[in-house]
Amino acid sequence: MTTAAGIGHIGVFTSGGDSPGMNAAIRAVVRCAIFHGLRVSGIQGGYNGLVDDRVVPLGARDVSNLIQRGGTILRSARSASFMTPEGRSKAAANLRKHGIDALVAIGGDGTFTGARVLFQEHGTPIIGLPGTIDNDLYGTDRTIGYDTAVNTAMEAIDKIRDTASSHDRLFFVEVMGRDSGFIAIACALASGAEYAMVPEKLQSINELTRALQEASITKSSSIVVVAEGDEEGGAFDIARKVKEQLPDKDIRVTVLGHLQRGGAPTVQDRILASRLGVAAVEALLKGRHDAMLGLVNDRVVLTPFKDAIGGHKAIEPELFRVLEVLAT
Ligand code: F6P
Repeated sequence: MTTAAGIGHIGVFTSGGDSPGMNAAIRAVVRCAIFHGLRVSGIQGGYNGLVDDRVVPLGARDVSNLIQRGGTILRSARSASFMTPEGRSKAAANLRKHGIDALVAIGGDGTFTGARVLFQEHGTPIIGLPGTIDNDLYGTDRTIGYDTAVNTAMEAIDKIRDTASSHDRLFFVEVMGRDSGFIAIACALASGAEYAMVPEKLQSINELTRALQEASITKSSSIVVVAEGDEEGGAFDIARKVKEQLPDKDIRVTVLGHLQRGGAPTVQDRILASRLGVAAVEALLKGRHDAMLGLVNDRVVLTPFKDAIGGHKAIEPELFRVLEVLAT
């Protein structure tokens, strides 16, 4: 069946760093497409799969028992070949060969940059879903995977708190987020950390050591959450600089790393992915494209790719104040 928007066959793929909830989004896209009488195919390995023609038909039962699984059954990658005009021409030819009329791309800003170029050069209608743990996309309050990553980091920091207290130690815990501090501020608040170093807020080592000295008047242990993109460096760099100023402190560093990208998605991420997956197919059927779907104030909204990529999403300043007040 071909619809009024000229769409009878949708392709779905995941691209960039994986995030918990991508599978739930794939499931929602597949089931919604089938609900509307469309064919649906999965493209494996992100844009690489488009260039190399790794396309598999998907049915409703192919996405059974998937909503609860971390990772992505379609695999993911950051593609070098798709960055070239030749690679994109091959991708467009493969889409024509399979009769795929439109795409749903699940990923972050790199994914949407690629989607824009494919649309501009070859006219492929694409809707994006925000799949990244970093929560750094403008046009959505939360990205798919962020809530799970923050919960994972929080649980890890809770455990670090136990040993930090036992040994009266100062811990620096590094979390992911690339250039943004959303994960850091959220898991610092949720785990009762003393301080968060994030790229969005200029904080000097002097300010940090002053706060830690103040805290040590009444506390024997402290935890500082460090966003990996902080301008003072990662957790090891910052720990070294603090040690120079506070040589008596017994300091340890933990880098949480990729464990933040795995695991079963939380309720929030499963529901977010399901809502946006359905909305993506229905947006394409209404003739919409070149835009990302997100949730703003609990309403599904479309934001043009250029704004989702270029716009700046700020961390609510109140969060820093709450952290400071509660670290007293
Ligand atoms: O964008 C998601 C993310 O996990 C970032 O937080 C991190 O900086 C990056 O990907 C890590 O990338 P890779 O998995 O390629 O090491």
